[in-house]
Amino acid sequence: VALIAAGFHNPLVVSLALSASAGLATYTAIPAVKNVFVSHGRAGKDLLKTGTPIIPESMGAIVGVIYIIAMFLFIPVPFISWFRQSQFALGGEEELVFPHTKFAQFLGGLLALMSMLFLGFADDVLDIRWRVKIWLPLIASVPLLMVYSVTYGGTDVVVPIPLRALFGGKLVHLGIFYYAFMAALAIFSTNAINILAGVNGVEAGQSLVIALSIAANDILQLQRNPARIEAHLTSLYFVLPFIGVTIAFLCHNWYPARAFGGDTYCYFAGMIFAVVGILGNFSKTVLLFMLPQIFNFVYSCPQLFHFVECPRHRMPRLDPKTGLLNHTSFPVANTSTLGRLMVKVLQRLGLLRVRYETVDKKRTAIDANNLTLMNLLLVKFGPMKERNLALAVMATQFACSCLAFVIRYLLVQFVYND
Ligand code: UD1
Ligand code: MG
Repeated sequence: VALIAAGFHNPLVVSLALSASAGLATYTAIPAVKNVFVSHGRAGKDLLKTGTPIIPESMGAIVGVIYIIAMFLFIPVPFISWFRQSQFALGGEEELVFPHTKFAQFLGGLLALMSMLFLGFADDVLDIRWRVKIWLPLIASVPLLMVYSVTYGGTDVVVPIPLRALFGGKLVHLGIFYYAFMAALAIFSTNAINILAGVNGVEAGQSLVIALSIAANDILQLQRNPARIEAHLTSLYFVLPFIGVTIAFLCHNWYPARAFGGDTYCYFAGMIFAVVGILGNFSKTVLLFMLPQIFNFVYSCPQLFHFVECPRHRMPRLDPKTGLLNHTSFPVANTSTLGRLMVKVLQRLGLLRVRYETVDKKRTAIDANNLTLMNLLLVKFGPMKERNLALAVMATQFACSCLAFVIRYLLVQFVYND
């Protein structure tokens, strides 16, 4: 009993217990509410199954609400020691100042997350236009940037040794550009999860690997870097409940899916990563954990910015005969000169499979695979089952996280050895 009581004095133990409870609550809530969602039109067709069954969508709303409840219940916990000490202080000792910045971190982070939850759900219901919704994470991140400026305020970046001659020193002052970078991180991370989607288990699977990588990095930093303990504890308090609710959601979203997260889940997950990166002041490390998303975004650019055709859905397709997923393609025929150049370059880099047709000895390109990581995996490794494609994306994410740890902890010594 004494051990349990001691454990409950440690906010991290409380956070772990709340994360597990939030996971259990999510696991039981999703089947309980799914009929309500379907009867109110919150459902989508599972496009990669024969007969395209109807699956309840926007389950990110349940995931997010339970996460927020867990966080609200947790808020007083890190401040309990302050409340105790301030009671002692009433006995005549000097007054203690309440850690307002730490409190503001929680409120700023939760405000950003709640805004994205609202936006994601609105997008699921109303299909907000891309050119409108792309700016909303930027606005949602403003309170977060305020908190950053009060807590850290630093906008100096340490220049890698080989580039120091170029920048004329060890530090470069980025000022407003550093804030622009953090706001861009919020726009990027939310949309990047949403465009690496469309296969059972992929949205939640990638988010789980990223969240676990962030938690592992926090635990490593807690041991190695005493000056940054508070920052990494805050990150853990935000990321642990997310891991709990995501594991629970993944149980229902894994092949064959019985629930979809919708844009609500994608935006919410993306904002979690931006929030911990900004509040913990390690946004560059968070980006390192998102290497597959960066690749998928850069690779998608010719389609996203309409240099080549971009169909409504770019996810792979099911071959009903074999039961395997194949890559999908976009037509090349009416592509602009710039678009054709991009197709050529990608093909040269071995990143594009182009199909040709020969008529009267004249060879013309017909189509090329849609520019997504999942289509590329199918081009490189051949058709596979939906479950295996989700596993392949998670394995890629895991391999990139390992690479990120090598860069962050080993290679970094060669570029920043002082
Ligand atoms: C993004 C992608 C789109 C991809 C879609 C799939 C870009 C620019 N947009 O669009 O290419 O096809 O996500 O989520 O890259 N679905 C399944 N199985 C799943 C998950 C989703 O069949 O495991 C289908 C369902 O019909 C669901 C729909 O995808 O209703 C959700 O798509 P939506 O989130 O509306 O697509 P976008 O985010 O606009
Ligand atoms: Mg989506």
